[in-house]
Amino acid sequence: MGIKIVDTALRDGHQSLMATRVTTPELLSVVEDLDQAGYYALEVWGGATFDAAMRFLNEDPWDRLREIRAKCKKTKLQMLLRGQNLLGYKNYPDDIVEKFVQKSIENGIDIIRVFDALNDVRNLKCAIEATKKYGGHCQVALSYTTSPVHTVDYYVNLAKEAEELGADSICIKDMAGVMLPEAAFELFSRLKKTISVPLELHGHSTAGVAGMTYLKAIEAGVDIIDTALSPFSSGTSQPPTEAFQYALAGTQYDPGLRLEVLDRAAEKLSKIRDKYLESGILKPKALTVNPNILKYQVPGGMLSNLMSQLEAQGAMDRFEEVLKEVPRVRKDLGYPPLVTPLSQMVGTQAVLNVLTGKRYKMVPKEVNEYLRGLYGKSPAPIDEIFRRKIIGDAEVITHRPADDLKPQFKELADKYFDIVQSEEDVLSCALFENVAVKFLKQKYGLEEDEVIEINLIVGE
Ligand code: CO
Repeated sequence: MGIKIVDTALRDGHQSLMATRVTTPELLSVVEDLDQAGYYALEVWGGATFDAAMRFLNEDPWDRLREIRAKCKKTKLQMLLRGQNLLGYKNYPDDIVEKFVQKSIENGIDIIRVFDALNDVRNLKCAIEATKKYGGHCQVALSYTTSPVHTVDYYVNLAKEAEELGADSICIKDMAGVMLPEAAFELFSRLKKTISVPLELHGHSTAGVAGMTYLKAIEAGVDIIDTALSPFSSGTSQPPTEAFQYALAGTQYDPGLRLEVLDRAAEKLSKIRDKYLESGILKPKALTVNPNILKYQVPGGMLSNLMSQLEAQGAMDRFEEVLKEVPRVRKDLGYPPLVTPLSQMVGTQAVLNVLTGKRYKMVPKEVNEYLRGLYGKSPAPIDEIFRRKIIGDAEVITHRPADDLKPQFKELADKYFDIVQSEEDVLSCALFENVAVKFLKQKYGLEEDEVIEINLIVGE
């Protein structure tokens, strides 16, 4: 049995390179080809695609999923879910999480990849249980980062815990693309000895090492790798699918993909990529290699955010100082992996510490909430004197943050009874209330708020 491949072109590929702007008709143009290529699964939904579809493309993300499913007859469809944050940026109540998972599966998803930015398993539990309940394959993804606490033992223990919670497979999710080949070999060799469910690696080519890292992971026994069809690959995206078919053909790892089918799909995706290059949505910089990620251990997206924050302050000359401050802030906060939303919090705090001239003189609301436990448990314990200096006497919660949230589905269904036509619509409102209400009114040809208000005034 060769290595299994999940193609990410239709989700992470265009999310990482083209700000998630590729439209449903464009995505649909290659689904039938990809379905014939011999993939283990196609990652097509979740992450930022849900928000972006409604917000920027005026598309219903649920329709996209159903249309892809209709054209993809035999290959499994996969999605990315941020645990209790679902596809949003805050914690949602359990009833919303369960209903969202149920509807994702009913509309065509086979594999749900669940992760939490802090690897706090309490934030994964509800999504894992729901996926199992509704018959989906539950993959637990562990956020990969480097720090004194993120050792091989840490990941092995976390993977064991995920397996005990019911994970059907386990993924190491290297969103920053900082995993080095030897580290991958060591980590997957150990995981392979301890874990009995299939193992998967998700990396990014940002730093230029992903291809080598993947190969060492394959040699160590990883079962599944995430790659993107060439036109939507490389740079801040995944390494190219075709490269692995060529490199591994005829070996014990042969993925067994049909190159002539991949070529056909790649030809179509090339035209789409070129269109976004021309329009400026795909920036050539996203396709280049950025080894500074390895030097500073800061993900590419975060580097460019820091630069634009400093540029806006006319303080680009402080860039090196800020980069040195980032690991110090990260240490103070208990070494969170630098993934959304923690990457933004750590980056902003580092900028403030440098520009104000006094560390933690100014603290963003989100950092304060993090220190009060509202995002979950920090990977390493936080110094209590430091914590109290920032949050004063405020309460620190040690229970699961979502335990404090009341059920919401029925309330939202009642609130928007004249707008929603399905449970899926209610979920869209639950996740991105303002964006979804505006989108659904337009979709169903309902009057805008202003008009309704005028009518009410006239009626009175
Ligand atoms: Co990714």
